[in-house]
Amino acid sequence: MTQTAELIPTERQLLYSRLADRLETGYHLNRKVVSFQANKGEPIYRWFKYKEGFSSTLVKYFLTEYAKKPGKLLDPFAGAGTTLFAGQELGWKSYGVEILPVGVFVMETREALNDINIEALRSTVKNLWAELAKIENYETYINHITITKDAFSDETEILLNKFLTYCSKIKDKKIQTIFRFAAFSILEEISFTRKDGQYLRWDYRSKRNLPGKPFDIGKIYSFEEAITRKFSQIISDLSGSTTNSLFADFEDKASVQHSVKIISGSCLEELPKLDDDFFDFIVTSPPYCNRYDYTRTYALELVFLGNDNDQVRNLRQAMLSCTVENKEKVDYLQNIYTSISRQKDFDRVIEVYKSSNAMMEVNSVLDELNKLEKLNNNNIARMVRNYFLEMCFVTFEMARITKRGGYCVMVNDNVRYGGEEIPVDLILSEFAENLGFNINKIFVLPRGKGNSSQQMGLHGRTEVRKCVYLWQKK
Ligand SMILES: C[S@@+](CC[C@H](N)C(=O)[O-])C[C@H]1O[C@@H](n2cnc3c(N)ncnc32)[C@H](O)[C@@H]1O
Repeated sequence: MTQTAELIPTERQLLYSRLADRLETGYHLNRKVVSFQANKGEPIYRWFKYKEGFSSTLVKYFLTEYAKKPGKLLDPFAGAGTTLFAGQELGWKSYGVEILPVGVFVMETREALNDINIEALRSTVKNLWAELAKIENYETYINHITITKDAFSDETEILLNKFLTYCSKIKDKKIQTIFRFAAFSILEEISFTRKDGQYLRWDYRSKRNLPGKPFDIGKIYSFEEAITRKFSQIISDLSGSTTNSLFADFEDKASVQHSVKIISGSCLEELPKLDDDFFDFIVTSPPYCNRYDYTRTYALELVFLGNDNDQVRNLRQAMLSCTVENKEKVDYLQNIYTSISRQKDFDRVIEVYKSSNAMMEVNSVLDELNKLEKLNNNNIARMVRNYFLEMCFVTFEMARITKRGGYCVMVNDNVRYGGEEIPVDLILSEFAENLGFNINKIFVLPRGKGNSSQQMGLHGRTEVRKCVYLWQKK
């Protein structure tokens, strides 16, 4: 690079300089407070680990620090429902949109836990083995998709199907839900697979013809052992107290607990249906722009919930673009907006997206790197372009449906491709500013995420920011 080129600030540097005064190290928001691990002690989070979740402490912190009283709360990427249920405990009316049936099922189970009859649950569990022994003809509930075939031993799969056949006969719907949830929560430990980054990793003991070095996932539990342990964990948690003492005061004051409203679908489609100025607070964490594929990681759970190959493929496409397989959704978005006579809004979002010089720079730099074959997949540029475009639509809708003075808190990570830092925090905040929010703060978590070893070798050890944005509706 010549000296002159180094002196010319890039659009990303200009944006950084303009927003530098909003960036603040969030010492109070250390990893422990933000990440899923902080939920460790709480039931349901212990039963099924939705690792993409954030912590209820984080949600409660923002709700109690920035809102005067409980109102209406939204999470457009609700996941397992951390925002919704943390808000509910504090007396908020919670609404959530989630596209992945896995998250929807966890949230529905959580709702079913209200007023559960523990004695009835205990006695149904006690009778389980006797009841299972009586089942001769069972239905096949587990219908594999290509990427899950042979995930269980034959014996385990038969027991799973028998168990689900038994579940379908349980009359008490809440107990039935908890029974199904117990089996749903042990799928990984009774299978030949482990969730590992973007894919499932397969154990050498599976029937699959696996290339490369044999991989040992460790102990594979029998169905009996795993389900017994799961039920004793569930019953013991339900019998104990669950209040998080840090917020006990607020929870006591929250005299009413409203039921949580779960909308199963894509927020790209669902948010445009909601009323203007409706919500007081949004706390959310969208998928990160990091190629993580939820449909592959949760393939076993999706099959358990009855999804076939086509449904999983469609789901992958409908999710916010964050994998290299995602295709552009512009036509789909245009259809949504024209069908509700809001073509002008569609045009405005596209205009805001295009008016971000940093965004345009990222797109052209990635296109250039792609041409030079410097990105390890040639769809990365497309993924990044579409991720931001879709997030621009989500941000527009969030601004529209938030009341004046209301807040939006978003957790997200920056990313890097081909050595180029993509300042997700700054670009999304710039969109937000142009769509009706003030950027109050971008809290940077004290320790950022390191690079992958491959990236580090090529580009040196630098960290990308992991942030919590605080925007306020103008
Ligand atoms: C980082 S996770 C959120 C986790 C959540 N904060 C929790 O604590 O469980 C992002 C979520 O967005 C969901 N998602 C992806 N695309 C979506 C879309 N178009 N509409 C709604 N949800 C979507 C994913 O399924 C995932 O559950």
